[in-house]
Amino acid sequence: MPGLTTSRIARHWLIAALVGGALLAVIGAALAIYAGLYIVAADVPHTQPVFLLLETVRDRSIAVRAADVVVPADLTDPGRIASGAGQYAEMCSGCHLAPGMKRTEISRGLYPRAPQLRRGSRPTPAEDFWVVKHGVKMTGMAAWGVTHNDEILWDVVAFLRKLPDLTADQYQALVKSAPKTHDETMQDMETDESHGAQPHDHGAEPRD
Ligand code: HEC
Repeated sequence: MPGLTTSRIARHWLIAALVGGALLAVIGAALAIYAGLYIVAADVPHTQPVFLLLETVRDRSIAVRAADVVVPADLTDPGRIASGAGQYAEMCSGCHLAPGMKRTEISRGLYPRAPQLRRGSRPTPAEDFWVVKHGVKMTGMAAWGVTHNDEILWDVVAFLRKLPDLTADQYQALVKSAPKTHDETMQDMETDESHGAQPHDHGAEPRD
């Protein structure tokens, strides 16, 4: 039947066109990458489509993984919040700033920018914890879980949830009230066997 033959030929052409198109797209992308077309410089923002893509990848990745995080019941405990304030002032404020603090050199040069966490952080404490523990690839955000145990990171998260309510004076007072400095906390952690987080993924630590 002539009709059947024609439609079969048309189908073959369609498949060939689809495969050819896909191949061309892959070759085109490879050439663009090899030619260095995409600008990775931190002083040139992403194009809007790339920005949206990366943001969606990040937000979904965090949301899905944070779903398994068990949040402690005592996040509003003043002791936790004070301890977290002390840790935050030493480890985080250089990039994320704090109430009453001027922008630092690193915070001005980072791209993607480190959000000012006094304006709020992730949607849930579980997401905050996940990000603080594991960090975010190809941004300045480090995985603090490599060097700190979960208890300390929860103190920091407890503080993050309080941070948007604080004035500059309240922030300073809270940091002063922290039970331990960061160095003291680190010394305690070294003598405490309960911390087990070690880098184990490829390239998590520079190799010789
Ligand atoms: C060297 C700079 C730097 C330091 C220090 C740093 N961060 Fe970050 N942080 C970033 C950057 C950059 C991002 C944005 C990552 C992105 O765009 O996905 C970020 C993202 C975050 C986010 C997610 C915010 C959001 O709304 O998505 C949280 C929460 C956070 N950091 C907490 C902390 C805490 C807590 C500390 C201290 C223990 C810390 N950071 C130390 C650079 C830093």
